[in-house]
Amino acid sequence: MTAATLLRPRGLDDAVRAARPQRVGTVTSAVGLGLTVAGLDAHVGEVITVGAEGAAQTAVEVVATDATGVRCMPLGRLTGITAGTPARSTGRPVLVPTGAGLFGRVLDGLGRPIDDHGPLDAQGWVPLDHDTPNAMARTRIDTPMQLGVRVLDTLTTVGRGQRMGLFAGSGVGKSSLLSMIARGSDAAVNVIALVGERGREVREFLEDDLGPAGLARSIVVVSTSDEPALMRLRAAFVATRIAESFRDAGQDVVLMMDSLTRVAMAQREIGLSVGEPPATRGYPPSTFSVLAGLLERAGTDRVGSVTGIYTVLVDGDDHNEPIADAARSILDGHVVLDRKLAVTGHFPSVDALGSISRVASKVTTPEQRATATALRKVMAARRAAQDLLDVGAYQRGTNPLVDAAVDHQDAIDAFLRQGMAEQVTAAGSWERLSGLVRTLGAGGGLL
Ligand SMILES: Nc1ncnc2c1ncn2[C@@H]1O[C@H](COP(=O)(O)OP(=O)(O)OP(=O)(O)O)[C@@H](O)[C@H]1O
Ligand SMILES: [Mg+2]
Repeated sequence: MTAATLLRPRGLDDAVRAARPQRVGTVTSAVGLGLTVAGLDAHVGEVITVGAEGAAQTAVEVVATDATGVRCMPLGRLTGITAGTPARSTGRPVLVPTGAGLFGRVLDGLGRPIDDHGPLDAQGWVPLDHDTPNAMARTRIDTPMQLGVRVLDTLTTVGRGQRMGLFAGSGVGKSSLLSMIARGSDAAVNVIALVGERGREVREFLEDDLGPAGLARSIVVVSTSDEPALMRLRAAFVATRIAESFRDAGQDVVLMMDSLTRVAMAQREIGLSVGEPPATRGYPPSTFSVLAGLLERAGTDRVGSVTGIYTVLVDGDDHNEPIADAARSILDGHVVLDRKLAVTGHFPSVDALGSISRVASKVTTPEQRATATALRKVMAARRAAQDLLDVGAYQRGTNPLVDAAVDHQDAIDAFLRQGMAEQVTAAGSWERLSGLVRTLGAGGGLL
């Protein structure tokens, strides 16, 4: 990784900057995750390059500043850096590539290509930072976004510009579900951020889950668990910034992030290492403001939309841990994946009754809502009677909804299940749901 790729020429501005005499500072310490640099008046967010003259340069970003100098976090490896190593300011924040040339590409946490498809064909470079859309200027969410997953399109309908959380323990099918959405959504652009994944999983996800067809309509940003915390955090923001650039051009984007929990963990490392106090379960207060800031950048703006799908790891299936709690309060709905369903081979393992989309009622017709409610009622009745059914104590005829659920369990399951390669449209899913509800209603006189 070289710092040179961060320094793209940008016309006259850059020519003027290049002609100016450059101030050289020095590294005064490199302790723990960070380093301090004296002699530069760089601002927070600016990229500095560190390294001896003629040697490889490491990019670091300014995260704090005081009278004695600036505190930086590395965007690459710090091996070889000593007190006294020269540091040069670039005068620039991290720049992010944009444009249609990014499709099918896999980028690192700074927007540099890591696949073997050669240099990026970027149409432009934009600063990483971007304003959150003004609350009053955001268009209201009123159009559904097809995700191509039957159970999600009907029972937790997502709107364009909505932000959903996918809450699940490990190995319950989050990545597989994301890849189904990447292939099945009707968005013009898919941006996928893989943050803090194991390196081995990245290729598996790209080649097996996403496949060439999914990748062709996606832009993937990857930062694996072994990379510096700041790189992992940056990957989340770079992916968001790329999604925003397409939204600013009026397009509908689906932004998927796997996982939001690992983004929070990266911020925890950064916060603690610059001296913030640990609060809830070791997460410093900045974690929660960074999360809120990141999630608020998705959504609608004056034009276009970024529909955000964020996976949230619920460790030990504890749905009340602080990051899951914070995410749930910020997001506009949550999909819960259930380990009990996954172990029985029921995929996608969505617990439909435990999942909710807060904008579903704004993006569905009354007829659609009625059919979705009818299926939920039947499923809820069965769940309430499950104990009785398990011990064989349920008396047929006690509740027509339970009878319908039992009689048509196979049809209900067939509707809720979906193979990885099965492509469906939202319209097709609604049609199939109304057929299913007619079948259920015919037995018990439900509708
Ligand atoms: N739609 C599906 N059809 C069949 N099998 C599936 C489906 N979705 C998931 N699986 C199975 O579940 C396993 C785990 O899925 P996946 O890797 O998506 O989980 P995860 O929640 O992302 O795991 P991790 O927490 O390790 O990232 C897969 O190896 C696959 O066998
Ligand atoms: Mg996964």
